[in-house]
Amino acid sequence: MMVELSDTQALQEETASAVAPLLQDRQELFHFNKHHNYLKKMLEPLPSFFSVLDASKAWMVYWELNSLAVMNRLDMSTKTRAISTLRQLRGKNGGFCGGNGQEEHVLSTYAAVLSICICDCDEAFALIDKAKLVQWLYSLKNADGSFRVNHEGESDARSAYAVVCVASLLGFSNDHDLFNGTLEWLCKCQTYEGGLAGVPNAEAHGGYTFCALAAIALLQGIQKLDIPSLVKWLVQRQDSALYGFSGRTNKLVDGCYSWWVGGSHLILASGFGNRSENVTHALFYNSRKLMKYILQCCQAKSGGLRDKPPKRPDQYHTCYCLLGLSSIAYDYKIQDNDWLIEPSSLHSTLNFLLPTHPIFCIPLGLEKKMLSYFKDI
Ligand code: FPP
Ligand code: ZN
Repeated sequence: MMVELSDTQALQEETASAVAPLLQDRQELFHFNKHHNYLKKMLEPLPSFFSVLDASKAWMVYWELNSLAVMNRLDMSTKTRAISTLRQLRGKNGGFCGGNGQEEHVLSTYAAVLSICICDCDEAFALIDKAKLVQWLYSLKNADGSFRVNHEGESDARSAYAVVCVASLLGFSNDHDLFNGTLEWLCKCQTYEGGLAGVPNAEAHGGYTFCALAAIALLQGIQKLDIPSLVKWLVQRQDSALYGFSGRTNKLVDGCYSWWVGGSHLILASGFGNRSENVTHALFYNSRKLMKYILQCCQAKSGGLRDKPPKRPDQYHTCYCLLGLSSIAYDYKIQDNDWLIEPSSLHSTLNFLLPTHPIFCIPLGLEKKMLSYFKDI
């Protein structure tokens, strides 16, 4: 008897037939020069179809700079160009706009502030009007502790994370009025499955789980979560046959979850944001297999990294696949309020990538100069 597959089952089979043959390959090489060339190519004038990404200009700057930075290939002229692009994205209220002349948006502001942090110089820091930015963020705060992405926009775990992250980098995350209720609201996003959703009572998802968990960690509230059920859900994200992570139950593997899910594992393993002592532990998933998925299935032949075969590479997946690799290349732990990083014995071949800050998603240590610049402003 022929049983008709559901749409979900058909997509799973299609994915398995594209991924499985690539996993047979024994080679586990990272094509550094090809990816570097891809990133350089993305700095040239782009074909017209990229105009659909016009509202994601700040994000494109961040994905590009961050990928180059994690590969330790970011040069001065690219930074200078990024600074001039970001200057045009400054809004009148202290936030940054998605594209030139557009409205300020919390997620563009997050991408711009991280890009400025990566540029790591006073000329870049001077693009931020901290006092105005704080007032603008106040105007986006909801009574329940969450934040809108802009005045008419949605409120979810992404915007809460973006605000807490920006506030931490600029030294105002201890503003009790601004963050009153935020930790409690974020904890309500944990679902019966164990992962966290974009808003309370929605579906647990790897992207939102990273955002909510990172924000909760910055607000020192990890112990308010049901950690065993979160860990169980995070462990279930690794596909037992295809080795990559999925973003939610019964969905497909995708290279970008190497960071959203892998980074969530990393936050828990590193002990960041946990008040108890001695909470560091190894990653609770098979990082060798994740590496196999990224190296054998996500590297596009012509350079750049992707979601899954046979998709094309893009800057977003290049950035988050690189962060995923960087997260397994080292052992990360907090000691005396500072990071203690050691090359991972399992993945010493990946040490040409710089270690990544598990919360700020940029090369570790870059946060220091920004923190000290804005300390007294
Ligand atoms: C589902 O897409 C994707 C979402 C619902 C959003 C995911 C959120 C992030 C990736 C986090 C973004 C982070 C910041 C800092 C803004 P889908 O249905 O196409 O994918 P799926 O099948 O894998 O769930
Ligand atoms: Zn993806």
